[in-house]
Formats: sequence, C-alpha cells, structure tokens
Amino acid sequence: MKLIIINGPNLNLLGSREPEIYGTNSFESFFEGLKKEFSDVELYHFQSNIEGEIIDKLHELGFAFDGIILNAGAYTHTSVAIGDAVKAIRIPVVEVHISNVYSREDFRQISYIAPNSKGVISGFGLQSYSLAIKSFLDNKV
Ligand code: DQA
Repeated sequence: MKLIIINGPNLNLLGSREPEIYGTNSFESFFEGLKKEFSDVELYHFQSNIEGEIIDKLHELGFAFDGIILNAGAYTHTSVAIGDAVKAIRIPVVEVHISNVYSREDFRQISYIAPNSKGVISGFGLQSYSLAIKSFLDNKV
C-alpha cells in the first residue's frame, strides 16, 4: 500500500499556527510517529503553499499510488482547479481537515474537493490523517 499525504497552504506552520485550532505538534514530528504506526504502509508527504504545485503533484502521483490523503487547506474552499485535478486522476482521494470545518465560518462549508473525493474526514485534529490511512487499509470489507 503506497499512500501520500498532500498538505496545502499554511500547513507547513503546524505547531505554531493558531495552536488553539490546529494544535502544538509540528507535522514533521507527527509524520514520524505516523510512519512508525503504519510501518506496513509506504507513506509519503508533500506540502506546498502553491496551488499549481499541488495540481502538478496530483497529476504526477494520481496514476501511480494507491491513494492520496489531501488537506488542501484554504484551497479546499476556493480552488475549482484542484477539484478538477482530483476528478481527473484515477486513484482515490480522501479529503482531510484537522479542524471541524463545519463548525467554523460559512466560507469553510464549501469544498471543491469533496464532490470528487472518496470521503471527507474533518475535526479530529492530526488524528484525521490516521483515520484517513485506516480508511484505505480497512477498505477490503
Ligand atoms: C484546514 C481547514 C481550512 O479551512 C483552513 O483554511 C486550513 C486548514 C484544516 O485542516 O482544518 O488551512 O484545512
């Protein structure tokens, strides 16, 4: 099983960015734990603040991996282009959010990714990523 977590804008600042919402853990340290927890999974991580780079990564890996876990950050709510890229690729994408976007501002209720994704996991803190990995592993049912 080969999975990649793609994180979008501002998620490089996890740990210092709005810790009351996003927690105090850096993604890098969380990711190290994740790789140990899911040692049977080939797990990769890519982060970019640039919309086009996220699209390029979806194109590059969207036919080669078993799944993509995508937290597009604020692009979730604005980017028709990332939504189209998710639709264009072959492998399943799970949309992930650390915070519960449905309990926040109105503009966060819109997702251009959700209609083309396998499912959405939102509001479990960094555990949202672990749940997304599990959703791929338990998919054999
Ligand atoms: C986020 C939620 C988005 O609304 C926000 O713009 C982010 C992070 C989350 O993981 O909770 O950057 O995707």
